[in-house]
Amino acid sequence: MTVHYVLDTDAVSEGGHAVVTIEGKSIGIYRVNNEYFALNNYCPHQGAPMCAGLVSGTTMPSDVYEYEYGKSGEIIRCPWHGWEFDIRTGKSLFNDKVWVKTYKVNVEDGKVGVELKRE
Ligand code: FES
Repeated sequence: MTVHYVLDTDAVSEGGHAVVTIEGKSIGIYRVNNEYFALNNYCPHQGAPMCAGLVSGTTMPSDVYEYEYGKSGEIIRCPWHGWEFDIRTGKSLFNDKVWVKTYKVNVEDGKVGVELKRE
């Protein structure tokens, strides 16, 4: 396993993201409530560049005719067909078996590092 320190922490503003290339992989680094998350820039549906998708929240489970908005800034919507994923986990909002690949992030000495496993 190798950690690639690719950005200064302040290179990504709160609620924003940056796309980096590490070992040929395009990876989005997102900052959500001062935590950093790394997602593969590739949608598992048909391969869209995920990081071009809008970041928002979603409606939470609720009773009929009640609409509760939550997870603001934690959901990314694929730009091609709208599949939604949780930035924190990579899991889709509609099926436990569908997710975007995520990478472990290390923050150290003001740098954001992404762990890649050797394959
Ligand atoms: S390519 Fe992402 S939802 Fe279709």
